[in-house]
Amino acid sequence: MRKRLFAWLYGRFDRRTRDVTAGLRADLVGDLTGEILEIGCGPGGNFAHYATGARVTATDYNEHMLERARTEAASEPVAASIAVERADADALRFPTASFDAVVSTLVLCSVTSLDRTLDEIRRVLRPGGELRLWEHVRSANRLLAAAQTAATPLYRPLADGCHLNRDTGAAVRRAGFEVLSEDHPTVGGHPLPNLVMIARKPLDSDA
Ligand SMILES: C[S@@+](CC[C@H](N)C(=O)[O-])C[C@H]1O[C@@H](n2cnc3c(N)ncnc32)[C@H](O)[C@@H]1O
Repeated sequence: MRKRLFAWLYGRFDRRTRDVTAGLRADLVGDLTGEILEIGCGPGGNFAHYATGARVTATDYNEHMLERARTEAASEPVAASIAVERADADALRFPTASFDAVVSTLVLCSVTSLDRTLDEIRRVLRPGGELRLWEHVRSANRLLAAAQTAATPLYRPLADGCHLNRDTGAAVRRAGFEVLSEDHPTVGGHPLPNLVMIARKPLDSDA
């Protein structure tokens, strides 16, 4: 019931904010080619921004989100080939080194273990493959960060496990990625600090 309600609420929010996030999403995924894994795809807000010829495996663990994603994948503005599948980002069941890129937008705040999910993303990427992410993160301002930590236990049950206070950039570095670019845009006047990052699995990685 909670998952259905969250899918409905987020679906409404997503429709209302698509114009505001379109540019950021297009910049993040529009030039990707080859085999792409999207984790936590939700209702498919990134789908229309993938290039023709991109082969996207779009995943989520919420069946009600997947229903919305399937409708979006079949809709007219979507040019890429998009296969929608159920998968939990905490335990990806895809073979090692099977993707050229992994995309995560507003998902790593919710996964059970950030470090484990980043290890899984690193595993399924080929050496040299890229993680492209847009996440809301912990503020660099200590007062705001403390407020985010205080609010998280109240917010989590309402927003499908979302943590307001994760330092996702530090976790990406800790997981052994090379950071290629990092930006902190303001998105639609939203008060939460954002991180937009492109990070690469090192070319000399074993797996
Ligand atoms: C805030 S929504 C973002 C949806 C979409 N990525 C976007 O940019 O609009 C978070 C999504 O991540 C999914 N999610 C959260 N934890 C997950 C997990 N462990 N495995 C797979 N999906 C997960 C949720 O079901 C939800 O669809």
